[in-house]
Amino acid sequence: MIGERMLEALNRQINEELYSSYLYLSMSAWFESIGLKGFANWMKVQAREELGHAMKFYDYILARGGKVQLQEIKAPPHEWNSPLHAFEETLKHEKHITECINKLVEIAEEEKDRATFNMLQWFVDEQVEEEANDEEIITKLRMIEGSKNGIFMLDRELAQRKYVEEVK
Ligand code: FEO
Repeated sequence: MIGERMLEALNRQINEELYSSYLYLSMSAWFESIGLKGFANWMKVQAREELGHAMKFYDYILARGGKVQLQEIKAPPHEWNSPLHAFEETLKHEKHITECINKLVEIAEEEKDRATFNMLQWFVDEQVEEEANDEEIITKLRMIEGSKNGIFMLDRELAQRKYVEEVK
């Protein structure tokens, strides 16, 4: 059984991951509305990955005999000033998620919950990857700022991203 404190924190993380999915789906819709289908695709794939993250916590709680308690998901923003702005907000959000994961690791350590501590290592690695991906796209967007041609090329690149289920 998972302790009360750990369980509550894991349930909170399901909400964080579902909100992440909601945020990126909203960004996907916005990119689609301004004609950037490649960017929209990238964000839609990201939204699916976030749903997968939520499900990892969900499945883990149930596997440990804990109770899943879903909470209200807040509404995300609906528009951004530019593609660069959207990706800066994405990176900011991922840094927040990294903090959440680190906090969960701390709780697992304090509660001496080995199993949860081990499960969380996947997320620790995942956050390094997610922040690096966002930083790479931000660097490209800064390089091409103001260039329609540059945006068009990057849009074509981001159109290539495909959803791959992340297995443990
Ligand atoms: Fe689920 Fe983007 O972290």
